[in-house]
Amino acid sequence: MAAAGGITDQTAYRRAVQRCRELDIVLPTFAELADPSRLDPALVSRLAGVDPDARDPRNLFRVHWYNGPDRRAQRSVPDHLVLPPALTGVAAPIAVALGDRFPLIGAHKVLAAYACLAPRLVSGAFDPTEHRAVWPSTGNYCRGGVAISRILGCRGVAVLPEDMSTERFEWLRQWAEDPSDIITTPGGESNVREIYDRCRELAADGRNVVLNQFAEYPNHLVHRLCTGRALERLAEHLQGERPGLRPFAFVATTGSAGTLGAGDYLKERLGTRIVAAEPVECATMLRNGYGEHNIQGIGDKHIPLIHNVMNTDVVVAVSDGNSDRLDALFHTEDGLGALRRQGRLDPPLLAGLAHVGLSGLANVVAAVAVARHFDLGPDDLVLTVATDGAAMYASQRGARARRDFPGGLDDAAALTTLARDLQAAAGSELLELRHEDRTRIFNLGYFTWVEQQGVPLADFEVRRQPAFWQRLWAELAAWDERIVEFNAQVGAPTRP
Ligand SMILES: Cc1ncc(COP(=O)(O)O)c(C=O)c1O
Repeated sequence: MAAAGGITDQTAYRRAVQRCRELDIVLPTFAELADPSRLDPALVSRLAGVDPDARDPRNLFRVHWYNGPDRRAQRSVPDHLVLPPALTGVAAPIAVALGDRFPLIGAHKVLAAYACLAPRLVSGAFDPTEHRAVWPSTGNYCRGGVAISRILGCRGVAVLPEDMSTERFEWLRQWAEDPSDIITTPGGESNVREIYDRCRELAADGRNVVLNQFAEYPNHLVHRLCTGRALERLAEHLQGERPGLRPFAFVATTGSAGTLGAGDYLKERLGTRIVAAEPVECATMLRNGYGEHNIQGIGDKHIPLIHNVMNTDVVVAVSDGNSDRLDALFHTEDGLGALRRQGRLDPPLLAGLAHVGLSGLANVVAAVAVARHFDLGPDDLVLTVATDGAAMYASQRGARARRDFPGGLDDAAALTTLARDLQAAAGSELLELRHEDRTRIFNLGYFTWVEQQGVPLADFEVRRQPAFWQRLWAELAAWDERIVEFNAQVGAPTRP
């Protein structure tokens, strides 16, 4: 990311201003998305009439964690589930913030997409009349990117592996301006190298601007500010209900490592440990490993450039067998029926689990592993997120459930799954990172970034230092100033 100083290209800047004026677009600042209670209440109440999935620029003001279940009304606390011991088998409460409350794509990746495009737009580094925004991803980020591009009146190109879920492709077909804006690459979840290769070819055409979430620092920064602040707010809320509760750890499975940025915020503010989780089938941080898995959205066989590795405290590996079987347990009538008949879990909690997609389930399993490893008690809060909900995986569920439960998901199988795949956090491996572990993980990134992607060695190395991440953090306020200035140039279009 360029520093938030000058304007790179005056012509591009003027065209961006003109485009936003034509389309009546106002850009939210990062501070507003971190704390939407700062928004004008009149604006918020008029927003209630806007369909959260419509291609309407006013939805930019909903790209935050504070949308209610209808994704229209704004709440003072991020919508969440608190998973009790009866479900998880551990004493520590596990709080899950729900990402399917985000507008447009029903996943929090739309936040990262906005954060990556907005700074370019307000600094003249992206001309919406000429450029195409290229969004490499395994699914949700490219959907977020296409949504943001279309809303901002420019072309968005999704680059994703062909094996990703049908729901992602159906959504893209509805939103892409042209079918050629959906580009598939070979393989599945962990075939990120193939995406990079395709992006390199695309970048040869100067009209294509690649917004690589694995290397775009605004992805880290927006989660540090917005997701970090949202989880802090959630912790404060839960502390109000249970004084003495302390946020012990923030757990997130990592894809681009953007979400993990929230950990940097929580650690600085509350001393919370940062736990990065990955698929055991592709244990890159734990074992420099590689392999295929089905925790869609994470585990991409490399260390992202924006991962503040030297600030990470724990790595835990979760099996996709756990998340697949829990997906069948929590998201099919057979599984839910068995849990209802057992009678130990509240019906609203069981209904709420519909908002936890595959990587969210993996986060919960990792959170249980953390609670077990550190012998956490009822006063230790573990914070995590569900990036998206179960709806995103409906098309694959039946076949996987038949594979995993060939004899059917009867009551006995359901209770065994709950005990083995969640409560025992089976398959989890956990490592508390020492300096040499962090160094090993950090060094692994060299091969992707310096050797393959041509990042200058000094730019790679500087990330070892906490001062680098603090300097980045300080830049965020300057980007907000640029956004405010840009909005002023656009004029005073009708706010929502
Ligand atoms: C469903 C899902 N879960 C988790 C992640 C990982 O989030 P991050 O890229 O911020 O590490 C992604 C990223 O695309 C995702 O789509």
